[in-house]
This record gives sequence, C-alpha cells and structure tokens, in this order.
Amino acid sequence: MKAALIIVSALSLLAGQAYADGKAVYDASCATCHKDGVAGAPKFGDKDGWAVRIKTGNAALVGSVLKGKGAMPAKGGNASLSDADVKAAVEYMVKASK
Ligand code: HEC
Repeated sequence: MKAALIIVSALSLLAGQAYADGKAVYDASCATCHKDGVAGAPKFGDKDGWAVRIKTGNAALVGSVLKGKGAMPAKGGNASLSDADVKAAVEYMVKASK
C-alpha cells in the first residue's frame, strides 16, 4: 500500500516536471521581445548576441529572468509562470542560440 502511494507520487512528480514546455512558454511569454530583439533583448537564435550571456551559465540566466533585468520585467512580465516554466524557456532559448 505504501509502495503504491510512493509510485503514484513519483509519477505525478515526473508528469509535473515534463509539463514545463520551454517552447510553449517562449512562444507565449518571451517571443514578444526576443523574436525581434525589442528593447535590446538578445534575439532568439542570435549566436553572437547570446554568447556572452550563455557563458554566465543557465542558473544565472534563469535568475535574471526571475528577478528581471534591464528592460525585461520579472518573469518577462508574466507573473503566472512557475520557476520551472522560466527555467524550461531559458533552456529552450539557450539551446537554439548556441
Ligand atoms: C518586455 C520584453 C521582454 C520580454 C517579454 C522577455 N524579455 Fe528576456 N530580455 C529582455 C531584454 C531587454 C533583455 C536584456 C536585459 C539586459 O541585459 O539589460 C533580456 C534578457 C534576457 C536573458 C539574458 C539575461 C542575462 O542575464 O543576460 C534571458 C535568459 C531572457 N531574457 C529570457 C527571457 C525569457 C525566458 C522570457 C519569457 C519568460 C523573456 N526573456 C521575456 C526583454 C524581454
């Protein structure tokens, strides 16, 4: 009985993590600025624009998005995003811009 409970909670944990879809978050909340480089935002897929930022590491980049940086509001202005959503979007953007 206990084991079944543990399996069920492990599965829902996995499902929860898989839910944060980086592309979907990017398309809905980040592309507004990052697609065309609005307000000095590093453009999606621009290797030169991203190189210096990528060097700081994903954790630092996620931190910038959670707190906001320069013209970028915290969580890109979408307060309903979870930390996992933000992390997934950053990973998606970084992967496409390397
Ligand atoms: C209102 C426009 C805007 C939106 C929306 C926006 N950004 Fe940004 N973003 C910026 C700007 C401008 C910068 C450059 C900030 C600076 O370096 O001064 C930036 C920088 C970044 C950086 C680099 C941070 C660093 O430490 O160098 C990351 C990563 C990032 N954005 C991810 C995201 C993600 C993920 C989202 C969606 C959840 C998002 N942005 C939404 C404008 C935006």
